[in-house]
Amino acid sequence: YIMTKKLYIKTYGCQMNVYDSRRMEGVLAPLGYRAQDSAEGADLVILNTCHIREKAEEKVYSDLGRVRQEKEKKSSMLIAVGGCVGQAEGEEIIRRAPFVDMVFGPQSYHQLPEMVTRAIRDNGGVVELDFAPERKFDALAESALPQGVSAFLSVQEGCDKFCSFCVVPYTRGAEYSRPLAAIEQEARRLVDQGALEITLLGQNVNAYHGDNGGSTASLADVIARLAAIHGLERIRYTTSHPRDMSDDLIAIHGTEPKLMPFLHLPVQSGSDAILKKMNRKHTAEFYLDIIARLRASRPDIAFSSDFIVGFPGETEKDFEDTLTLVEQVKYAQAYSFKYSPRPGTPAAGDEQIAEDVKDGRLQRLQALLRMQQTAFNESSVGKTMQALLDRDGKLEGQLLGKSPYMQSVHVRDAENLRGQLVDVAVTGAYLNSLAAVILSEGRKAGVEGSCAADKNFSVRRVHSG
Ligand code: 5AD
Ligand code: SF4
Repeated sequence: YIMTKKLYIKTYGCQMNVYDSRRMEGVLAPLGYRAQDSAEGADLVILNTCHIREKAEEKVYSDLGRVRQEKEKKSSMLIAVGGCVGQAEGEEIIRRAPFVDMVFGPQSYHQLPEMVTRAIRDNGGVVELDFAPERKFDALAESALPQGVSAFLSVQEGCDKFCSFCVVPYTRGAEYSRPLAAIEQEARRLVDQGALEITLLGQNVNAYHGDNGGSTASLADVIARLAAIHGLERIRYTTSHPRDMSDDLIAIHGTEPKLMPFLHLPVQSGSDAILKKMNRKHTAEFYLDIIARLRASRPDIAFSSDFIVGFPGETEKDFEDTLTLVEQVKYAQAYSFKYSPRPGTPAAGDEQIAEDVKDGRLQRLQALLRMQQTAFNESSVGKTMQALLDRDGKLEGQLLGKSPYMQSVHVRDAENLRGQLVDVAVTGAYLNSLAAVILSEGRKAGVEGSCAADKNFSVRRVHSG
């Protein structure tokens, strides 16, 4: 008999961290740990941190202050800092916040059961900064918890690209690709547990080159293999580097209907001079050519990107080149950031752009991106598409889902459709979402007299969990 213990994990940053947090829950479950959604009264609190920009890191230290207050009410509480801040700062965290019991990096969390035992025995002081994802995935093989209808699956970790602004190659380590068989096994398990959609994750996911019984599999090979799994309806992958958009990957966008027509393909800047300083290893023209080839392969594909403004040396002209590129691509969605110098990265020591210049550029870029996002959403009105209804909405009877293009779709009067992939007609568009009505099977088949808003619709069940 194992006593139930309370676990609180707070996740910062990227989807890889969301996946890792769920896996942490999985390795701790056999010890009796069950997740709750606050630090209050917890036996173990884990902050799964992000080091990508300064703000994310500051947030960790301010949250640690709050967790400490909870520990004052419950002295047996263990506090752990995991993820990329853990990896980057190691023992320094315990020096700065001595009430922290455990520090570990993204490649060490499979050792959590043993770390917890040690922390209890030695009263804290546990630091684990191992760097071998191979051992982690081997150790994790049997502990994947269900993730619901939309699941993440890590296929690749780490990065060998060394963009001059980025900490990832230092915190996540060298590129590592999991063997294809292990990925397929995990995917089948996720589908058995109810997943209809799987998003393949990697810091540099399209650099994937995993073992396939002696030969090497590409990301396109992974996609083809998973597409054959009965019951899996949607496949996505993120995040990609333009340099690794290989021919087979571009081609499979045109041939595999389960691969969703949406791609997050960060370009960071539209200026060749800045791209060179960023060590991105490609030009704006190269990127635009990839976009054109993807559109030729899958005409309805939509794009998203990341942008950095105010990178050291960025002139007004360089910034305008970024705006020009945005106008050429027409994005469905995008993230943009002010450059944040990260300790230990090559660009951190260069002369910095003034904060007010960064602010002004960010606002101009974001205004353009917002216009494009709104235009893209408006172009969906009147269209029929499938939405995967994975979450409850704020209103009674409302459900939220995702369109093929990653737009949030909300539908009303849909209580009994949670977790299903349904046909919807888009009726309204906003900056960050679409409104839609469920289409009945009859209407889909073109039967006269059935109403889109009819509450007595019948919906095809794609998968019965
Ligand atoms: N400053 C600002 N943005 C950054 N990113 C990565 N490092 C930095 C940095 N030092 C952004 C990039 C990347 C995204 C995940 O975060 O745009 O694609
Ligand atoms: Fe960072 Fe560049 Fe690697 Fe992306 S490709 S993780 S931005 S170093």
